[in-house]
Amino acid sequence: MAPLSDRANTLLERLAQVEPAARDARDQVRVARAPGRVNLIGEHTDYNQGYVMPVAISLETWIASFPRRDGQARFSSVQERGTYDFDVLSPGTRRDAWIDYVAGVAWSLGEDGVPLRGVTAVVDSDVPIGSGLSSSAALELAAAWTLSERAPPPLDKIALARAAQRAENGFVGVQSGLMDQFASANGRAGHALLLDCRTFDFHAPRIPADVVLVAIDTRVPRRLAASEYNARRSECERGVALLSQRHVGVSSLRDVTPGMLREATDLLDSVTLRRCRHVVEENDRVLAVGNALVQDQLDLIGPLFAASHESLRDLYEVSSPELDGLVEIASSVPGVIGARMTGAGFGGCTVNLVRDDAVEDLREVVAREYPRRFGRDAGFHVVRAVDGAGVLDLPPG
Ligand code: GLA
Repeated sequence: MAPLSDRANTLLERLAQVEPAARDARDQVRVARAPGRVNLIGEHTDYNQGYVMPVAISLETWIASFPRRDGQARFSSVQERGTYDFDVLSPGTRRDAWIDYVAGVAWSLGEDGVPLRGVTAVVDSDVPIGSGLSSSAALELAAAWTLSERAPPPLDKIALARAAQRAENGFVGVQSGLMDQFASANGRAGHALLLDCRTFDFHAPRIPADVVLVAIDTRVPRRLAASEYNARRSECERGVALLSQRHVGVSSLRDVTPGMLREATDLLDSVTLRRCRHVVEENDRVLAVGNALVQDQLDLIGPLFAASHESLRDLYEVSSPELDGLVEIASSVPGVIGARMTGAGFGGCTVNLVRDDAVEDLREVVAREYPRRFGRDAGFHVVRAVDGAGVLDLPPG
């Protein structure tokens, strides 16, 4: 068994500081890990029963835990302030703190009848918070693998992702779709995931070995993100309600065709029409990128990424000057296969598919041009596609 990394050793030491029994009973210690994600393409399509193509990435949340007999959960964090306690069978209500993602998972797993355990636990994460790389989904999935009496938890991975999504929807109060939790639960090393959010079927197109994923962070706080996100959801729902009056069998934007939208200018106001057009066209782009990856036609991906970005900027209106700037800067660098904003938008990151020999050029150009245009440095994360949530193999202490 491989020796533990420095990161794991440091985390175990932190656990031993809050729970000294963990030092001598390594066999009872569990370290759960869950990745953040970057979305290659398929933005704001998940809650419209469309297609998405996220990748679970090598920025991860880890939780080291030691079981307790009193049914209490006691969590602290290496990065965040505060120690929080809750009863795993009765986790209470939202406290407007990071613990909500953990307590929310206890609540939703409990509802699913998953046997839970009390723990003393320490969280450590290198997923940047509020950057659109799904730090919350990573925390939720790591919490699920920590709080479940059994590891793996006794739910299939889609059901586990849905339980984590419910924690976010019903406990934390954010109406997000399934994509982030799905990616963190189901990631596959070296692969992207193409998910059909209507049937939950998915397959995993391989990412070519000489292609590198780079997430570039605008480092702009995502103001208004939650309220604008919910507003976009209702605009899509309004579109569906109106279109279903005209077309029998339309129950989500997944059922809507470009032709129906062309004939709907009398039915939909221009904002609703733009939102719907984005979703309907984005679904086709996801399938096209999936085919391009499978058939190794990487030159098709750049224009599809560019069209997705423009659509998010002009039709869905969730981009920002900094995101547009980063896409422009990256697209000027030879060897960048595709660049677009990723995640909900309003700040956060761009995703870049880059030939491995062009990564350092991209880093240099971004480090020079972004501060010149926007007066701040960008974050530059070179990431790998990794497996979904699980536990580390711990050698005996
Ligand atoms: C956030 C949500 C996802 C998805 C994206 C936009 O990341 O959590 O469910 O809707 O925004 O594609």
